[in-house]
Amino acid sequence: MLPVLDGVVMELQDCALPLLREIIPTDKIEVGFKDIDAAILVGSMPRKEGMEKKDLLKANVAIFKTQGAALDKYAKKTVQVVVVGNPANTNCLIALKFAPSIPKENFSCLTRLDHNRACSQVAMHCGVSSDKVKNVIIWGNHYSTQYPDVHHAIVNTHGCELGAYKAVKNDAWLHGDFILTVQQRGAAVIKARKLSSAMSAANAVCDHIKDIWFGTKEGEFISMGVYAAGNSYGIPEDLIYSFPVQIKNKRWKVVDGMSTNDFSRAKMNATAAELMEERDAALDFLT
Ligand code: LMR
Repeated sequence: MLPVLDGVVMELQDCALPLLREIIPTDKIEVGFKDIDAAILVGSMPRKEGMEKKDLLKANVAIFKTQGAALDKYAKKTVQVVVVGNPANTNCLIALKFAPSIPKENFSCLTRLDHNRACSQVAMHCGVSSDKVKNVIIWGNHYSTQYPDVHHAIVNTHGCELGAYKAVKNDAWLHGDFILTVQQRGAAVIKARKLSSAMSAANAVCDHIKDIWFGTKEGEFISMGVYAAGNSYGIPEDLIYSFPVQIKNKRWKVVDGMSTNDFSRAKMNATAAELMEERDAALDFLT
């Protein structure tokens, strides 16, 4: 893959990024992970058409075990680790478990892509641009049991802020096709492109990292997969689960006190159950 990496180096140079000082392409763990401040773990086998996440687990957990151990050994203890490679939540949990000297709070997985998808679906439905939709929540897994929840979302239509349910005026869509579309979007992109999402995933990584570094906007929250210990929603603790979070000084905090009705509760629990199953299967593969 090193000649391929040369192409990535050229593309990075060609972006003329003002903050880019030096690129060190390498296949050596001790070089790549040495004293790093941020790790964006994208290296995994991508899903192909028809593949489900369990097929991916087997192929990918060993990669994240190695990367967790490398982070533990070589990275700064303040490193911020974002797991993108799928199944992202469980890969993140595995990396975290093999990096015991790094605080668990420094690990997160990408559900911002799902969050952006949910904002965009609501925006298109209301005929506004997606920056006019805020505070959607992705609960749980990045994969198909994820629960995109707009009970607390706000839509700004023509200067007037409305709850998403009032703005959309179609509860059946919000409880049905909206959820399915967001849940299945990754698979739909793969079916159409014959490749998994690239541009929208990279864009979501930028959003995620930017919010870690600079914080979330006042009064707004975003979704990311974080270690569930101590959460107030009754989600089992030893999971990477996507919650609504606010970030300040590079520290995230789950937004507590979001009301959840029976519909939401059932979906939050179902995605937690899927993550527990994934975690147990991943740990089995590793032993
Ligand atoms: C996505 O959501 O587009 C990616 O994570 C690809 C996938 O496997 O769904």
